[in-house]
Amino acid sequence: MSKNLIALQNKFLGQGQTVYDALSRLHDQQGHISDQDILELARQHDLPPAHVRATAKFYDDLAHAEPATRTLKVCIGEACRAAGCDGVMARAEAALGCEAGHVNTAGVRLEPVACLGHCGLGPNALVDGAPVSLAGPEAEARVLADLKGGPAHGLGEPKNPVYPPAAGKPSILMRHFGKGAETLAGARALGVYGALEAAVKAGSPQSIIDQVKASQLRGRGGAGFPTGIKLQTVADHDAPDGSGRRFIVVNFDEGDAGSYIDKELVERDPHTLLEGVLLAAYATGAQAAYIYARAEYPVAQRVLHDAVAEARAAGLIGAPLFGSDFACEVQVVRGKGAYICGEETSLLRSIEGVPALVSIRPPFPAQEGLVGLPHRGEQRRDPPQPLVDHAARRGGVRGPRGGQVPRHQGGEPEPPRRAARHVRGRAGRDLA
Ligand SMILES: Cc1cc2nc3c(=O)[nH]c(=O)nc-3n(C[C@H](O)[C@H](O)[C@H](O)COP(=O)(O)O)c2cc1C
Ligand code: FES
Repeated sequence: MSKNLIALQNKFLGQGQTVYDALSRLHDQQGHISDQDILELARQHDLPPAHVRATAKFYDDLAHAEPATRTLKVCIGEACRAAGCDGVMARAEAALGCEAGHVNTAGVRLEPVACLGHCGLGPNALVDGAPVSLAGPEAEARVLADLKGGPAHGLGEPKNPVYPPAAGKPSILMRHFGKGAETLAGARALGVYGALEAAVKAGSPQSIIDQVKASQLRGRGGAGFPTGIKLQTVADHDAPDGSGRRFIVVNFDEGDAGSYIDKELVERDPHTLLEGVLLAAYATGAQAAYIYARAEYPVAQRVLHDAVAEARAAGLIGAPLFGSDFACEVQVVRGKGAYICGEETSLLRSIEGVPALVSIRPPFPAQEGLVGLPHRGEQRRDPPQPLVDHAARRGGVRGPRGGQVPRHQGGEPEPPRRAARHVRGRAGRDLA
């Protein structure tokens, strides 16, 4: 991707105006994007049509050129394959009279998708964007009858079972499950945002980073990279343009079939995620955060959207916090069906609104991330302060294979104290 094109797009970042944002909106409205739409968007954005077309065609959901009034997406992830999704797809093709990837004469689009995060309840599907389990004798027949003009299928959203830690074991990530944490009032009653308030009032961003380092927490995205080091790197890196801009980017793409833990955390405890995001922003001096949420989780999208709206209305997002001059804008960016967007550099390009091609490292995203500025990318499971405290009390968080987290090879530079910056009047919009 040409740097000039990225730069052209960057001026729209955070305002819901990238080509990707525009394509997403258009697709939400009309369910497809025609060649004419692409030419019109190119004209509006003063960009080459080839660039707009390349962006649209990169994403499964934006690549639809045929109009459709209804959709059936059959999950073809591994668990759903084991549960018989190939048979579901074959029967759907026969019933609807079209092959997967096409729209039938009645305007029903049939296509594969993976994974919907209900792997134990499969085979699963999305009907007009709503998740359903097709397990059981009648569910599939009801859905197909509905799509052929019969009565509404009437199936509810599947709900995954929760298996809390065994008696006597501490419950950390699931500690708010089933206790009404989905709403701001419920979350606050459980103490969510308390750690943020204490941290902001204490006024020492560096002490948050120090506590995360002391906890030996590390990332859950695969590499197990020490979270404290990543936070420190972002805090220590000034933007090349001298603007002081930094970002927090949350990787809630979770594209690997069966890896749906983040979905449950977001759906059942969204404000703890937002508190963690704001804590990370305060610690690093970031003024904006982006949560990249996958399209295949419509319930999580809805819960997150509501949580952001409630937190914004309560003055926790986009406004100075707890008497300080620190404020952070938070936006939810919806994925559009590209698995590769789970990879962090690809995810950044998607937020920037260009085709989500992977970038070569170095430079690492913590140094030059979103629009070339430092950012902290993380999987959703980074904890807010109570978890950090807990980990510190336990003497460190253990790595995935039970090993103690190693010290960073390069050592830990002594960072300068950095005041969090306040952005006034940024018209950040929640894209979800
Ligand atoms: C092909 C590919 C797909 C990836 N998908 C995901 C994903 O779905 N979720 C995720 O958190 N990390 C994913 N990653 C890892 C991210 O690039 C990045 O390392 C991670 O988000 C960092 O988070 P952490 O600090 O919590 O480890 C993927 C990497 C690759 C190469
Ligand atoms: S594999 Fe189908 S829901 Fe996960």
